Amino acid sequence: METAMLKFNYDYASCVKNSERTSWRVDEVMPPDTRLDFSRAFLPEALVPNSSLDFLTEDQRLKLNQISGNAYLNLFAFVEEYILVTVVQHAQAEMFGDRDAIRALVRFADEEVKHQRLFERYRAAFDRDFPSPAEVLESAAEVAQVILSKSPISVMMITLHIELMTQHHYTECVKDNREIDPLFASILKHHWLEESQHAKIDALELAKLVSMATPKAISQAFDDYLDILAAFDGLLAQQAEMDVRSLGRATGRATDGSEPGATGFSAEETERIQQSQLQGYRRTFVWYGMTSPMYVQAMQDMSPDGAARVEARVAHFS
Ligand SMILES: [Fe+2]
Ligand SMILES: [Fe+2]
Repeated sequence: METAMLKFNYDYASCVKNSERTSWRVDEVMPPDTRLDFSRAFLPEALVPNSSLDFLTEDQRLKLNQISGNAYLNLFAFVEEYILVTVVQHAQAEMFGDRDAIRALVRFADEEVKHQRLFERYRAAFDRDFPSPAEVLESAAEVAQVILSKSPISVMMITLHIELMTQHHYTECVKDNREIDPLFASILKHHWLEESQHAKIDALELAKLVSMATPKAISQAFDDYLDILAAFDGLLAQQAEMDVRSLGRATGRATDGSEPGATGFSAEETERIQQSQLQGYRRTFVWYGMTSPMYVQAMQDMSPDGAARVEARVAHFS
């Protein structure tokens, strides 16, 4: 961690200042009782590519996009569960120390719960307005426990990964997109505004942990990080399975009288939709994080060998 990560052009105080400047309220971004507009796509094709599913009609692909958008926000609320715990732990560790670091971390924690509240509000509106039930992952607290059982360095690595990836989603895929639903784009914009500070704080916290760690602990952190990615991959596969069932219901192919778990699509179609969803989620939630230039640099600074191990996994998620 000798090089770039120690030469930060920001510090805790500047993160607090930016956070105060960009801060927003849930009610401003999504007033209570907001109705969702199902005539537009929610996510850009770059994040959930489904145009190759040529056996689906345009309307079915639009519904699949909306199901993915709802799952996307839920996945964020899901990972914010463990991020909240870890950030509170980092704030606690700083008590009686650097006041700016405490403020930056406490604001960070508050912003994550706020994001969860926003995403929950969105999900409630989706459940109310979408024509049929859409399934999403539910066990956020259990997954948080699994992640938090890993070494603190690896937990901060995956956190930095997630918060950098959020920024790439917005700046590269959403910001200049005029096709998608303006409410969804606005939610991602407001999330990005605060995540920009979070990623900087993550990098500062990671540098702090690494400066006190042995090479063995750093190597272990890379193993743990790759284990977390593998566990996350399993969750993404579960979500992809849920999406096919949700689409089956939304298109009227799977009805209340269908076999339990039936999608209403043929086995081959089910497989193709599921694979397309999984590939989209992998690229969105894993690839964008592990290949983010700032993340790659941080890995290199920590351990060239560890960075090479991460790089060897990139193909699986692309
Ligand atoms: Fe967040
Ligand atoms: Fe965040």
